[in-house]
Amino acid sequence: MVEAFFGFKKAPFGDSPDAKQLFPSQAWNQAKARLQFLADHHGAGLLTGEVGSGKSTAARCFTAALNPNLYKILYLHWTPGSTLDLLRQLALELDLEPAHYRGDLVRQISGAIVRLNRSKKQHPILICDEAQLLCHSALEQLPLLLNFDMDSSRYLTLLLVGQPLLRRTLSLQMHEPLRQRIAVQYHLEGLSREELDAYLAHQLKAAGVTQPLFDDTARQALYQVTKGILRKVNKLALTALRLAASRKESTVGESILLDATTEALP
Ligand SMILES: Nc1ncnc2c1ncn2[C@@H]1O[C@H](COP(=O)(O)OP(=O)(O)OP(=O)(O)O)[C@@H](O)[C@H]1O
Ligand SMILES: [Mg+2]
Repeated sequence: MVEAFFGFKKAPFGDSPDAKQLFPSQAWNQAKARLQFLADHHGAGLLTGEVGSGKSTAARCFTAALNPNLYKILYLHWTPGSTLDLLRQLALELDLEPAHYRGDLVRQISGAIVRLNRSKKQHPILICDEAQLLCHSALEQLPLLLNFDMDSSRYLTLLLVGQPLLRRTLSLQMHEPLRQRIAVQYHLEGLSREELDAYLAHQLKAAGVTQPLFDDTARQALYQVTKGILRKVNKLALTALRLAASRKESTVGESILLDATTEALP
């Protein structure tokens, strides 16, 4: 219905944009520069941001573009669990049969990480997404995976991705060892008001429509409601287009946008 009414070639404001169609916001460019530094210099990094600001997308799209001959991406999407669960998940990502006891697991994982670097010349990047859910003891385990024995080589790169709570957790004294190893950090904000206009045009163009479908008042309201947080923008913009199509309105004005807000962001 929306596609046919507005003449879209594909639905705009989708959930999983392809890497080439990511909107190059200032925040995304800033995050990307830091992730590149991390990939080049290794160590640990921290990427935080409000819910729906684009953290996972940034981490996934950045690592997807790295040369797979040089980097092995270990992606842990964390749900609450014990340190042992974290180590088991990591072992599985490394294609290991997880050992039963914690000490054996750590040795197994360390061995696999060193082998990847030395034999395969592949550097592993461990991404812990939703890291605000990691328990304290799991966070305490992470620095131990970054340095082995007396060897100062950096065999593993760690990227912690999470909501603002993660920063508060890491500020606790007990996490000083992990904090000291964080070489780069970035907090993703929503789009600015000017970027929001460019983002709407970017999305519509990617869907094959070049005329503006949101009038000035609708764009202003969209910004006020979403503060440029991408998931909210996508959801609200698509709902507004759907309402406009059902009312046979060729553009979205403030009143449609406000009706869409009640429906999309209760
Ligand atoms: N640069 C971008 N260009 C276009 N769309 C984007 C971009 N970044 C994120 N998005 C879209 O915004 C939505 C939210 O992104 P994402 O899931 O990465 O947010 P998040 O910060 O990880 O959220 P959560 O806190 O819930 O984990 C997704 O639908 C994604 O497709
Ligand atoms: Mg996420």
